Amino acid sequence: MKGLILAGGLGTRLRPLTYSGSKQLIPVANKPVLFYGIEDLKEAGIRDIGIIVGYTDERVQFIKDAVGDGSRWGVKITYIRQDAPRGLAHAVTTARDFIGGDDFVVYLGDNILNKGISSFAEEFRNSDMDASILVTQVEHPEIYGVAMIGDNREIIEIEEKPENPKSNYAIVGVYFFRSSIFEAIKKIKPGKGGELELTDAIHELVVSDKHRVNAHVVKGWWDDTGTAEAVLRANHLVLTDLKAKREGIVEEGVRLIGNVALGKNTIIKAGTLIRGPVIIGKDCQIGPTYLGPYTSIGDNCVIRGGEIESSIIIGDTHINLEANKRIVDSLIGRHTIINSARETLPSGCKLVLGENSEVQI
Ligand code: TTP
Repeated sequence: MKGLILAGGLGTRLRPLTYSGSKQLIPVANKPVLFYGIEDLKEAGIRDIGIIVGYTDERVQFIKDAVGDGSRWGVKITYIRQDAPRGLAHAVTTARDFIGGDDFVVYLGDNILNKGISSFAEEFRNSDMDASILVTQVEHPEIYGVAMIGDNREIIEIEEKPENPKSNYAIVGVYFFRSSIFEAIKKIKPGKGGELELTDAIHELVVSDKHRVNAHVVKGWWDDTGTAEAVLRANHLVLTDLKAKREGIVEEGVRLIGNVALGKNTIIKAGTLIRGPVIIGKDCQIGPTYLGPYTSIGDNCVIRGGEIESSIIIGDTHINLEANKRIVDSLIGRHTIINSARETLPSGCKLVLGENSEVQI
C-alpha cells in the first residue's frame, strides 16, 4: 500500500501565516502538522509516500526543505506537483502515475489523529471493500463531508457540506482507496466552490458504480488544523500527553509544575513559574515570566515579563511584557516582536500587522 499526503491548497483561513509558509508546517507541540501524518503512515507499515505540493516554486520548496527525502523516518518521499488547488479529487488524480495499480491511503496534510491509522490500514488490506473512510461524530456536520452509514458500517450516502445533514458523522481526512477511485473521479464535475470534491467521487463509487465503501469511527480525537482556533485546539490535545523533559538549564528560584519539556541550550531564569503542559524548544531565554498550560514555544525565543497561556509562539520571537499583560489563545508567527508600550509615547497599542491579521485588544 502507498501513502498520499495532500499538502497543496491555499490555506486562506490561516492567513497571514500562509503568505510566508505552508499551513502543513505550522507546529503543533513544536512539531509540524505534516510530520504527524508521515509518522502515522510509517507506523501503519507504509514506506512509499507521495506528497502533493502546491502550485508555486516557493510553496514546493517550503515542504521539500522541511521534509527532505524521508530518510529521517525510514520512508521514501516522492513530491508530486499540483498545478493549482483544484480540489482534493484533482490532487488525487495528479498522483495517478505515482500510485500505479496499488492500493493507497490519502491523508490530508493538515490533519492530526490521536491514535494513528494502523488498525484501519490493516483491516483495509484484508478486506474486500473498494474504499474505506474514517468518520467522527461532530456537533455541526454541515461544515464537513457527511456520511450516512448503514448495516456493517457500509456507506449508503455521502454529501459535501449539506444544508440539512442526514447524519452527524463527519468525514475525517484519511481515506483508503483502490485504483477504482480514479474511474470515479473521471465522472465527477467541480462542486459549488469550483473544486473537484473527493466526497463526490466516493458518492459516485457507492451510488453509480455500486462499489462497496465502509466507514470506521476514529479512535481518540481528530483535528483538521485549518484555522487558528483548530491549530490551538490540536496543540491543546497533543500537549495533554506531553512527557516532561529537561535538556535546558533551570536557574534557582524557578517553579515548574506539571509536565514541562525544555530543549537544549534553553535557559529558564529565576522568578519564572511554568505550569505545564508546556513545551519550549532550544536556544530560548525565558523569564522571569509566567507560562501557563497548553503553551508551545519554538526555538530561539526570548520571553520576559507578563504571562502567556494556551498559545503557540512558533519561534525566533521576542516578547517583553509588563507584569499585568497576558497573551492567551494566540498563534504567533516567526520573527515577531511584541514589546511593552509603556515606555514610549503616545500611549496605546502600536501595531505593524500583515494583511489578514487578527488581533483583539
Ligand atoms: P483544505 O483545508 O480543504 O483547503 P486549503 O488548504 O486550500 O485551505 P483553505 O480552505 O483555508 O483555503 O485542504 C485540505 C488539505 O488538502 C490541505 O492539506 C491542503 C490539501 N489540498 C491539496 O493538496 N490540493 C487541493 O487542491 C486542495 C483544495 C487542498
